[in-house]
Amino acid sequence: MIVAIDGPAGSGKSTIARELAQRFGFEKLDTGAMYRAVAFMAADRGIDLDDEQGVEALARTITIRFAPVEGALRITVDGRDVSREIRTPAVDATVSKVAAYPGVREAMLEPQRAVAEGHDIVAEGRDIGTVVFPDAEVKVFLTADPRERARRRVLQRHGGDAPDAEALEREVEETLAAIERRDAADAGRAVAPLVEAPDAVEIDSTAHTIDEVCDRIARLIEERR
Ligand code: DC
Repeated sequence: MIVAIDGPAGSGKSTIARELAQRFGFEKLDTGAMYRAVAFMAADRGIDLDDEQGVEALARTITIRFAPVEGALRITVDGRDVSREIRTPAVDATVSKVAAYPGVREAMLEPQRAVAEGHDIVAEGRDIGTVVFPDAEVKVFLTADPRERARRRVLQRHGGDAPDAEALEREVEETLAAIERRDAADAGRAVAPLVEAPDAVEIDSTAHTIDEVCDRIARLIEERR
């Protein structure tokens, strides 16, 4: 069985995909991490991100893998663990450019589909239900109010110790602007843009907890099993 979860930045896809994969014993596929890995490796190797052919050639030659290490899923590129390096503001700011290149998307398709061979999976991204797995049994389009998405990102960044109210508000404003820029780039690109699949179930998580959203999707999974 394939469970596809698409939606904009900060809508809760990763947390929800992780939780569902655990509940059902499914593999989890974070496709955003793969585009992040391409963006990071390009910068690391000094490839100009405007050099579409150069970035595409890189995407075709690197091997991206996910492997559990001490219970957590790590991402490696040609054996190098880049799990931390792909979660920086620099990668946040550049990944949409790389993800818009058709050759990069093409290069990611086969490894993404390979993860589902012989496994039940929960896959999350922007084009899972439309392009990667158009026949997925369960398709969810997860949304949330942009300000709430920005707030969640900031709180997540600070872990347990949130800054004072004023600093928090300032950071939410900055993050909101960055999220809106990324959403516009992801939705506006020509190839595999962020759009809701016609047969997806739309869930707005603004006023719901992670557990509530997971319960709702779990019911969809049980129904289709
Ligand atoms: O989910 P995320 O924020 O880690 O994704 C990083 C970027 O990768 C996001 O800006 C859009 C892109 N992406 C994509 O184009 N297609 C996917 N299936 C997943 C992510």
